[in-house]
Amino acid sequence: MTPTLTALLCLGLSLGPRTRGQQGTLPKPTLWAEPGSVITWGRPVTLWCEGTLKSKVYRLKKDGRPVPWGTKIPQKTRNKAKFPIPTMTQHHAGRYQCYYHSPAGWSQHSDTLELVVTGLSRKPSLLTQHSPVLDPGENLTLQCHSDSGYDRFALSKEGGQDLPQLPGQQLQAGLSQATFLLGPVNASHGGRYRCYGGHRLSSEWSAPSDPLDILVTGQLPATPSLSVQPGPTVSSGENVTLLCQSRIQWDTFLLVKEGAADPPLRLRPESRAPGFQAEFSMRSVTSALAGTYRCYGSQSSSPYLLSWPSAPVVLVVSGE
Ligand SMILES: *[C@@H]1O[C@H](CO)[C@@H](O)[C@H](O)[C@H]1NC(C)=O
Ligand SMILES: *[C@@H]1O[C@H](CO)[C@@H](O)[C@H](O)[C@H]1NC(C)=O
Ligand SMILES: *[C@@H]1O[C@H](CO)[C@@H](O)[C@H](O)[C@H]1NC(C)=O
Repeated sequence: MTPTLTALLCLGLSLGPRTRGQQGTLPKPTLWAEPGSVITWGRPVTLWCEGTLKSKVYRLKKDGRPVPWGTKIPQKTRNKAKFPIPTMTQHHAGRYQCYYHSPAGWSQHSDTLELVVTGLSRKPSLLTQHSPVLDPGENLTLQCHSDSGYDRFALSKEGGQDLPQLPGQQLQAGLSQATFLLGPVNASHGGRYRCYGGHRLSSEWSAPSDPLDILVTGQLPATPSLSVQPGPTVSSGENVTLLCQSRIQWDTFLLVKEGAADPPLRLRPESRAPGFQAEFSMRSVTSALAGTYRCYGSQSSSPYLLSWPSAPVVLVVSGE
C-alpha cells in the first residue's frame, strides 16, 4: 500500500467513529452478509460492501477498528467488494461497518452490521406459556430460558432479517430467561422461531434452541367441521376418533387441543365425497386426553397460516 493511501486510510479511520461530519462526505455504502448475519461456527459467510462505480478501494472495520483482511481493490465490478470468511469463528463475530474511497474523497460509514457466531455453548429452551396456535390479535409472548448463566438472549425467526435481543433476567444461580413480547398477532408472526443465549456484549451466541412453530389462525377462507365417534363422552380405555372434514381441499388438517403447549397433530386429508376428511384416532383414551379440541386446514405454500377453527368438540373421559 502506498504511504499516501495509508495516511488517507488512517485519517478516515481516526476521524470516522466520532461524528458523521468528520467522516467522508460521499454517500454511505451498503453492507450485508450472505447467507445472513447469524452464522454457525465453522460455516462460511461473505460480507459485501456496495458503494459507487467510482470506488477505488473498500475498507472494513470491526468494532471500530480496521480489519487486517478488510481492504479490497474492487476487481470486475467497481461498485462493490466481496470479503469472504471461509470459516466463521468467534474472532470474526462483531459489529462491522464499511466505507470506500473514490477520486472525490472518502465516503461515510455504512450502517452497522452485527455478524454473530452461534453454536459455541449449550442451547437454551424456547417456550411459550400460551398455545403455539394463536388467533389474530392475541398477544404473542416467547420465553427463552437456560441454566447456563446467559445474561443475554436473542430471538430469530426463520427467513427473518433482524435478531431482537434482550438482557436476561437472573432467576437464581445459573438460571436466566428473557421474555420477548411480540404483541398482537397477525399473519406476519406465523413462522419457525429459535432463540440463543450469550454473555455480555459479545457477538457470540449459543447453539440454537429447538425450533418452536407459531401458527396463526383465520388466514385462509372456509372453516372445517369436527365431530367425534362414538360420541363426546367415553369411558377410559375406549377408542375415540375425531373426524375433521371440509369441502375445500387443503394440504393438511391440524388438530389442536385447547391449552396444550404441544405442537398440533397433523394429517393429510383423504378424499371422501363430497369433500375431504382426516381421522385423528386415539386408542385406549385416558383422562389426560379429555379437553376441548378444534381442527384447522392449512396449505403447504404457507404452512404457518391456518384456516378459521372448526366449532369446538369437548371430549369427556369418564371413570377408570
Ligand atoms: C397485549 O399486551 C399489551 C401489553 O402488555 C396489553 O396492553 C394488551 O391489553 C394485551 N392485549 C391482549 C389482547 O391481551
Ligand atoms: C403485523 O404486526 C407487525 C408487528 O407488530 C407490524 O409491524 C405489521 O404492520 C402488522 N401487519 C399488519 C398487516 O397489520
Ligand atoms: C381399539 O382399537 C384397537 C385396534 O384397532 C383394537 O384392537 C381394540 O380392540 C380397540 N379397543 C376397544 C375398547 O374397542
